[in-house]
Amino acid sequence: MANVFSRACTGVMDWINARAPGLMPMYRKHMTEYYAPKNFNLWYYFGSLALLVLVNQIVTGIFLTMHFKPSAAEAFASVEYIMRDVEWGWLIRYMHSTGASLFFVVVYLHMFRGLMYGSYQKPRELVWILGMLIYLVLMAEAFMGYVLPWGQMSFWGAKVIISLFGAIPVIGNGLTEWIMGDYLPGDATLNRFFALHVIALPLVLLLLVVLHLGALHEVGSNNPDGVEIKKGPKGNRWSPTAPADGIPFHPYYTVKDLFGAGFFLIIAAFIIFFEPTFGGWFLEHDNFTEANRLVTPAHIKPVWYFTPYYAMLRVVPHKLLGVIVMFLAIAILFLVPWLDKAKVKSYRYRGLLSKVLLGVFALSFVWLGKIGAGPGTDLVETYIGRVLTFLYFMFFITMPLWTKLDRTKPVPERVTLHD
Ligand code: HEM
Repeated sequence: MANVFSRACTGVMDWINARAPGLMPMYRKHMTEYYAPKNFNLWYYFGSLALLVLVNQIVTGIFLTMHFKPSAAEAFASVEYIMRDVEWGWLIRYMHSTGASLFFVVVYLHMFRGLMYGSYQKPRELVWILGMLIYLVLMAEAFMGYVLPWGQMSFWGAKVIISLFGAIPVIGNGLTEWIMGDYLPGDATLNRFFALHVIALPLVLLLLVVLHLGALHEVGSNNPDGVEIKKGPKGNRWSPTAPADGIPFHPYYTVKDLFGAGFFLIIAAFIIFFEPTFGGWFLEHDNFTEANRLVTPAHIKPVWYFTPYYAMLRVVPHKLLGVIVMFLAIAILFLVPWLDKAKVKSYRYRGLLSKVLLGVFALSFVWLGKIGAGPGTDLVETYIGRVLTFLYFMFFITMPLWTKLDRTKPVPERVTLHD
């Protein structure tokens, strides 16, 4: 039986190869003959996990679209219908809403890994830039998705965020109206956000992810030691010309990533089944009440993944300045490959100064996130927020200095994991 099956498979493969001879070399280039450094650690799970969540969002999104009604009059009720009457609808919806937050969890960890190991340094600047573009599109995608269920926080969140454009001199008010298609978020806003959320932005996201991986596979993966395996000795048990410290992505890292995916899915399942709102962090309590333009919620705040930037907006006293600071906080991340002047990539071989500053930066970002999620009435917290915003920017602005000044340790010739 097994023999018949394997002969059938070979037959099908031969048939395809004869008609599309370019497919097999492509598969080999990106899977069995993509030699990745053999010292990947836990931090290297998050790229494949981001891919897994992306697929989850697309698949569950398709099923939600089958029952969702993109109109201000029906959206909220259609989500309730999905939750109560559609078979397994509650599961699909919670997989999608939990997936959105987990997407940002894995992407933030993935970005932090890049910072720790200097993965943005030459020759991977383009991988980083494409990653940053993904991050921007992902934020737009998440923001528009949150508006769709047309709950209180969908409506008021959309109003606050879109109104930020109103701070731009001269064109501000016109621009706000143009984005909303109305004077307040309404039917037109919901319609266009639906179109952008379900088709336009996912297409852009997919394209960017393909380019991101294409750019990575051109130059090869970095690793926790920040050693370029392509520059090291050649020859391993699979190929005499491959980097000696590289192992085939498939099957070695596909198996490793499958283990990571299994672990991740267990955690995701616990959240989806037992605490899908995650105490109001993944789905805010106010969003279980239908949008009402006459009732403003006590605390309007975005979902946790936006709150560090939202905190910056709130602690800066001037509205336009706050908006500029918030946008600059994201824009400055694009420049990291050129701000970092260190001779070594990985923080493993950098001095104490770099490690402390990276720690302070991470702490500032998380603490700002906490402040942005709060009611924003505490004056002391506002001052702390200002200091943290200052520290956030100083990390990047002074980076050319401290990366040059800091002492580095000698980087080993080869990655530190040998058989
Ligand atoms: C949808 C979101 C994303 C997906 C699906 C994705 C996917 C991947 C995958 C599969 C890898 C290779 C495996 C790994 O190194 O973990 C990778 C590497 C990388 N990604 Fe992403 N990524 C995403 C977002 C981002 C973002 C937002 C950034 C940073 C701004 C980024 C920066 C990088 C860098 C620098 C590498 C190379 C890491 C190294 O070789 O050490 N990615 N990405």
